[in-house]
Amino acid sequence: MAAAAKLALSHSITKSPSLCSFSKFTADSRGFSVRANACLDAVKQPMSTDLVSLEYADLNLPPAEVGHVRIRQHVNPLSSSFSAPAPVPDWKEVFRDPTLPLMVDIGCGSGRFLVWLAKRNPDSGNYLGLEIRKKLVKRAESWVKDLALTNAHFIFANAAVSFRHLVVSYPGPLTLVSILCPDPHFKKRHHKRRVVQQPLVASILDSLVPGGKVFLQSDVLDVALDMRNQFDAESIMMQHIDEVDSSLPCDSDGWLLSNPMGIRTEREIHAESEGGTIYRRLYQKRTTSLLQLRN
Ligand SMILES: C[S@@+](CC[C@H](N)C(=O)[O-])C[C@H]1O[C@@H](n2cnc3c(N)ncnc32)[C@H](O)[C@@H]1O
Repeated sequence: MAAAAKLALSHSITKSPSLCSFSKFTADSRGFSVRANACLDAVKQPMSTDLVSLEYADLNLPPAEVGHVRIRQHVNPLSSSFSAPAPVPDWKEVFRDPTLPLMVDIGCGSGRFLVWLAKRNPDSGNYLGLEIRKKLVKRAESWVKDLALTNAHFIFANAAVSFRHLVVSYPGPLTLVSILCPDPHFKKRHHKRRVVQQPLVASILDSLVPGGKVFLQSDVLDVALDMRNQFDAESIMMQHIDEVDSSLPCDSDGWLLSNPMGIRTEREIHAESEGGTIYRRLYQKRTTSLLQLRN
């Protein structure tokens, strides 16, 4: 089994002296694909929504709750209706232990990905999803309740507006931020609607603990490059994971060879089922910034 495919699911900081890393976890994203493929033998050409259900079968979500939620394809995060900061929750109310390491998934969509991680890692971390589409948040919260998860929470929020004040108020360390297949907003004049913009990058860098990680991916090369360029530009504070962890190699263009999370997101499943490529980067915040080293 490829070491890269086994990375760390739980984002809790390990006691590793050299590097704060995700703790190792045995789930294997290829394992999921293999399982899905086995099922595909029996069911010819399933819809990719069926593939999502297969991949997330462990969650055993109540059928009524898995039903279709009618939502608009894209929203404009620059619209005034999304400019209000999301209220800060009472963290003691939403997480059993609000001092645990926190993972934040920006633009979490349905939330299945985070719910799965939270269920797998009940004691080692808290999982917060930020999503701009209210109906998805409502449904994800109903799953949290149905599964009696005490380490997952979803907030209706425009991450561009609310990420910083939400994470600053969290009592524990922020150890992982993911931005997975963000809305592409293809037209050049709409690029400013993309979620990864300099102020958000700065907020993430400021809020992460040393050793904390940022996981990015997209099935749209232009979007992946846009995110990558912004984080590559922060090399004083961030380094790409292959510089510090040889078990997570990249291809010759610098994209991670495999998904390090042990589970694919819904968009990822859809894209791969259509033959698309997922472009991934995983950054780690330096424990000592290059500036400090120079002084
Ligand atoms: C293409 S979907 C991907 C969902 C999920 N990450 C996945 O990979 O399956 C992008 C998600 O980001 C959400 N989103 C877009 N802009 C956002 C913003 N500014 N703040 C929070 N969520 C946002 C969208 O509503 C949508 O659910």
